[in-house]
Amino acid sequence: MDASNEMARRSFFERGTQFLGLLIAGGMGIPALMYLLRGANSVAPGGFVDAADLGAMKTRVPEEVSFQRVRKDGWKLLTEKSTAWVVKLSDTDVVAYTPQCTHLGCAYRYEESKNEFVCPCHSTNFSIEGKVLGGPAPRDLDRYPVKVQGTRLLIGTIESAKPTEGQKKA
Ligand code: FES
Repeated sequence: MDASNEMARRSFFERGTQFLGLLIAGGMGIPALMYLLRGANSVAPGGFVDAADLGAMKTRVPEEVSFQRVRKDGWKLLTEKSTAWVVKLSDTDVVAYTPQCTHLGCAYRYEESKNEFVCPCHSTNFSIEGKVLGGPAPRDLDRYPVKVQGTRLLIGTIESAKPTEGQKKA
């Protein structure tokens, strides 16, 4: 093999090695760069999730439903189970209450005999419209925003109810 062929061969291997280096750097660097640029804003907060079939619900009979929501915690995406008390007040009016009492956050339940929600911790009663009927809770039940698509109920992220008149705490 003469000297010019040896030089061409070395040059070919040098270029090949440089090309492979670029390929590896690009293969690792571009996804990492996209992750860093998109990561913090890639999940829109407040998204609605499919939670229940309204066709199977009776009017004015509360039903506890479970659904899953993806939440962003720093760079991590966490799937969390949530629940809501859903009431189909009429064919056109559906509400979904968060499952915590607005006094100190206990889980309340539906009491069919009274047609009310009852919190066992300090005895607050709420109507199925979410209003405080009695007890220490400072405001009505908190509601999730909802959307209806056909017979499906979509639930968004929490909204707080306004303090009830006469029950605002100083
Ligand atoms: S936590 Fe429900 S009444 Fe106190």
